[in-house]
Amino acid sequence: MAGQENKYDQRYTESDCYWGTKPSVLCDRLLKVLAGLELKPSDLSMIDLGCGEGRNTIYMARRGITVTGLDLSPAGLQKTKLFAERAGVEIKTIEASLFDCVFERDYDIVFSTGTVHYIPEDSRERCFEYFKSKTARHGFHAISTLVEKPFIEKAPDSEEQVTLFESGELMSYYKDWEIIYTIETIFDCNSGGVPHRHAVNRLIARKP
Ligand SMILES: C[S@@+](CC[C@H](N)C(=O)[O-])C[C@H]1O[C@@H](n2cnc3c(N)ncnc32)[C@H](O)[C@@H]1O
Repeated sequence: MAGQENKYDQRYTESDCYWGTKPSVLCDRLLKVLAGLELKPSDLSMIDLGCGEGRNTIYMARRGITVTGLDLSPAGLQKTKLFAERAGVEIKTIEASLFDCVFERDYDIVFSTGTVHYIPEDSRERCFEYFKSKTARHGFHAISTLVEKPFIEKAPDSEEQVTLFESGELMSYYKDWEIIYTIETIFDCNSGGVPHRHAVNRLIARKP
């Protein structure tokens, strides 16, 4: 487990599909952006940071993108591989922490849903700069993160390591990139079997 505690191992082992099988809305949003720019998915590589059980990894691989899923949880990665096999797609996986991972190559797309809020606040600038540096020229980041709102209660399955982003914080890491899309909204979640709500910031940015 790359030396860090992760409760998801147990969650992924005990549940069929903790996050469900439906991909994040950010997948189709990004595919639409790529189509609008006439970029062929089969020409593109992507890393999915904190891929979990691979719902987005597999969805994007099925569209033809060469996808690598990175997560701290071996159980999550095992399921990602199993679900990819069942879907008939090839993917790669990396067991590592996103705070100190070293990418062996650059990617056209850095994708991440529900994970960057695990990065401690004082490491965020450095981590985002690293992910940006490992992105190909004119490549994309598609990121979603949970955002702090005084009127939204803490999720029942939230973890101590999580520090929610401030409103507008995610965009602040992309001052030197083109922001293609950004939205802050509230969604219903049933993770852990207890209905609750999250505020989320989704962003798609392009490297100059
Ligand atoms: C909320 S889940 C999201 C999973 C997936 N992206 C999805 O949307 O279905 C967060 C994921 O981040 C992973 N994670 C947490 N801290 C991490 C770290 N430091 N490095 C890599 N992955 C981490 C967890 O194991 C978990 O799979």
